[in-house]
Amino acid sequence: MRILLVGAPGSGKGTQAELLSSALGLEHISSGDLLRGHVARETAIGRSVQEFVRRGDLVPDSIVMDMLRKPVVEAADSGGYILDGFPRTVQQAQAAYDTARTLGVQVQVAVHLDVPEEELVRRLLARGRGADDTEDVIRHRQRVYQEQTTPMLGYYSDREELITVDGTRSPEQVHATILEQLEKVRPRLEGTEA
Ligand code: AP5
Ligand code: MG
Repeated sequence: MRILLVGAPGSGKGTQAELLSSALGLEHISSGDLLRGHVARETAIGRSVQEFVRRGDLVPDSIVMDMLRKPVVEAADSGGYILDGFPRTVQQAQAAYDTARTLGVQVQVAVHLDVPEEELVRRLLARGRGADDTEDVIRHRQRVYQEQTTPMLGYYSDREELITVDGTRSPEQVHATILEQLEKVRPRLEGTEA
């Protein structure tokens, strides 16, 4: 299965991706984790993205597209993937679809984790991941999500590929709901396996 997790910063994408990865045996691919890895290792990619990540702005599409092409295709070939944080704009979704469709590795279902903003801010302040978990940057990341990512929900719902889940309950409850919802759409997904 090829799944995309969509949700605001702090909605639980990483948490749910790990749970789904264990439950379904799918590769977890997080654009944010990969970018932070590059920044930590001070690679060429890391140097070009570090200011965007620190400010909570999206990094340029070409960088994320180039970084993710290989891991996505490899994961799709070995049984499927859970994408966490990419695509996150309509443009990225369209570009990823155009590239992936010819190889039969496009997203089959997008799972939207719905959580109100005050809860998101509370979770991220409590986590304190680093430079991008200060209150100002957290608020800015929420605005970037509202402006640049929420339009992408329409892109997937228009294609009847969107599941929305209440992300405010415990991680285990959210996980169980996602599994139930995926089970319901599985027969339809099998028709789009290629
Ligand atoms: P990214 O790493 O994707 O971060 P994000 O979207 O800001 O989301 P987070 O990782 O902060 O939250 P999450 O939804 O994964 O929640 P988590 O499970 O950790 O992106 C970072 C940056 O990289 C971007 O700002 C941008 O610069 C760049 N970038 C990444 N992808 C890009 C792209 N495609 N294009 C351009 N730029 C890109 O949970 C958060 C906290 O809440 C944790 O402490 C967790 O324990 C807790 N929690 C989780 N679930 C629950 C629950 N159900 N109840 C209570 N607490 C919970
Ligand atoms: Mg995350």
